[in-house]
Formats: sequence, C-alpha cells, structure tokens
Amino acid sequence: MQHSFLNMDINQIRKDTLGCADKIFLNSAGSSLMPKTVVEKTINYLKEEEQFGGYFIANQQTEQVNQFYVEVARMLNCRAENIAFANSNTDAYAKVLSSIPFKSGDCIITTDDDYISNHIAFISLKKRFNVEVYRTKNLANHEIDLEDLESLIKKHQPKLVAVTHIPTNSGLIQDVEAVGRLCKAHHILYLIDACQSVGQLVVDVQQIGCDFLTATGRKFLRGPRGTGFLYISDNALAQNLKPLFIDMKGANWTSFEDYQPTHTAKAFEFFEQSYAAMIGFTEAIRYANEIGLANIQNYNEQLSSELRKLLAENSSIKVLDQGNRLGSIVTFNHHKLALTELQNLLSNNQVYHSVSFKGSALIDFTKKNVDWAIRFSPHYFNTLEEIEKVGKLLREV
Ligand SMILES: Cc1ncc(COP(=O)(O)O)c(C=O)c1O
Repeated sequence: MQHSFLNMDINQIRKDTLGCADKIFLNSAGSSLMPKTVVEKTINYLKEEEQFGGYFIANQQTEQVNQFYVEVARMLNCRAENIAFANSNTDAYAKVLSSIPFKSGDCIITTDDDYISNHIAFISLKKRFNVEVYRTKNLANHEIDLEDLESLIKKHQPKLVAVTHIPTNSGLIQDVEAVGRLCKAHHILYLIDACQSVGQLVVDVQQIGCDFLTATGRKFLRGPRGTGFLYISDNALAQNLKPLFIDMKGANWTSFEDYQPTHTAKAFEFFEQSYAAMIGFTEAIRYANEIGLANIQNYNEQLSSELRKLLAENSSIKVLDQGNRLGSIVTFNHHKLALTELQNLLSNNQVYHSVSFKGSALIDFTKKNVDWAIRFSPHYFNTLEEIEKVGKLLREV
C-alpha cells in the first residue's frame, strides 16, 4: 500500500488511524477520524484533571497549552498572537461579526456559496441592524466573478467581504487570494470561512491577505469535537476590533465603569473552554504539520479526482462539483435510484459518507436543480484501492 509518488507513509498513517481498518471512511468533511495520539493526549489530560482538578493542571501545563497557538501559527504562516482558540467555526465566526461595529445602512458582500449559518447570521444582522447583504455573481465555471465583486465594492463600500473558501456541499475552491488582493486595494475587512479547507489544503494567510479566518477542529484537521480557531490579522488587531461580548480572559476590569481589552487575538476567547479537547486539537494540528499540508493536498487531489472520474463512468450518476479548482469534497446524485437506496448500498458496504440537502445549500442546489447530494470527502488516510472499490460499487447501479 506504499504509494511510490507519495512523500508520506500511508501504512504508518493508517496504523495511527484506528477507525479506518474496518470501513471505507469518506466523511472527513463531516467529522473525520482522529489519529490515535490525538485521543491519547486528550484522555491523558483529562486523567490529570481527574487527579488534580482543571485549574491546577492548566496552570501546571501552560507550555503545553501555549503550544496550540504555535502549531496553528506554523500551519497558517502567522504569529501565535494572531490566533484564538474557539469551540467551533460558528463560534469564531459569530465573534468576528460581533466585533465589526455595523450601523444601519452598512453593507456586507458575500457569495452564493457561503455556508448556511453564515447566511443566517447575515440575515439576522439585516433584520436587527438593517445591514444590507449583497452576493457576487458567479462565473460560468462557478467561481466568484471578480469583476462583479469589484464593481459591488466600488458601488457599496462594504464594511466586510465574507467568502467561504470551500462550501460544505461542493468541491469548489474559491480564488480567495484574488479576493484578498481586491479587499486590500479597497481597504475592506475580509473574512474567510476556512472550515472545509484548513487541513486539506495549504492555507497561508499571508498569501490570502485576509483579516479573519475561521476553522473547526473535527473535519479535515482530524481533531476532537468542540474545537476550532480564529486567525486575526495584524491589520484587524491594529484597528482594535473586539467582540461585543468580551469576558475576563479578553479584558481587565480596570475601574467601576471601564475595562481594558488585551491586544492579541486572545480577546476573542472566553475563560471557559475544554483544555483536554484543546490539547488533543494541538496534537491533530502537529500531526498534519509533520506530514506537511502540501503533501496532504497533493495526495487528496489524486484521491478526489480519481473518485470523480470513476463516478462519471456511470451515466445515471451526475457529479455536481463545479469550479476551476476542485478539492476533496465530491458530490453527486443519481437519476434512477432513490437516496435511501443509495445510502443502503453504501452503508451495507461500510462506506461512510454524508448527505447534503437543499436546505443547507439553498442557492447552489436551486441553481443545480437538485434536492440532495451524496457527499464523499476522502482524506490522506484513504487509499486509491478504497476509491476504486467505491467506484466499482457504484459503477453498476
Ligand atoms: C463551510 C462550513 N462552514 C462552517 C461550518 C460550521 O462549522 P461548525 O459546526 O464547527 O461551527 C461548516 C460545517 O459543516 C462548514 O462546512
């Protein structure tokens, strides 16, 4: 199973991934399989808490705790001071939105392919504060139309441009670097939802030029549930943007009527969080950093393009991913089989997958004229043999 073209040891990676031995796991875009060292570190930390109590251990192990910021910074190419721990992508995202002082008539520019919860948050801002929301047109290849974005920026002078790097429901990889150049040229704050891209792609915040970037732990990063992070650029930190609700971790209570926020990204954290999960998450990021995100990206590109090719061999299957560059989310539906029939076939053959429904991809699935799509999300612990097995299973149906 050693693939000669790889710069990584798939045998070792599969040994480290206990959950992949008895199934074909293609749901890293949902909640991936943790490497065993991630689980061990999490449990060991909990055992320390069992013996000594959580506060004592957190004080004893500050170096281990601080390693979280170091590993994320290493992965994103930034400083540890730019990173905050979060409980999820949505947690980080909501804190970013709350840090921007929106007034009635201000505007946000986003895309048709942003995540459902981001759209709901924008609509909520519209309902409560009368913030206008505009969505850019897509090009024929489905990516953001940059000319349209630039003309929207010039016309509306938005407070924020918000782009989801890879949507939850398709393999599309948006050209976030090009959007970054436009935002920089027009001095607009730029927020990226990198929930589905971090861990499967090289994500370099200097190259992208974003002000905020959010991610979750449990997906392609292979961390425990209840973890995530937020990157905040030096530019945004210098603008003194702070979440609306800040607690004693992010600020000192300096007088009866005032508080002084910290100047680093830690102003976006709350005091209480799961340190055990954070330690496990640190190990997951360290593990990915050691393998190398460029290696992971290259390998995943091969797995997902092979999978798309095999699926397309069945004329009843429609592969739904569109875009100039496609990542490790592979979506399709079937003209003849009902969803439950497909799901049963996959489940009976131990093929772990998930389903995206129209409700979570309202604009995209309306345009594609589909109500659901099966979502496969191969990751670097998968093998080409597994991909071929799945292709064979679906070829005849
Ligand atoms: C693109 C994208 N953004 C955000 C989220 C939400 O992540 P979380 O549940 O960690 O808040 C998801 C979850 O599927 C996602 O796919």
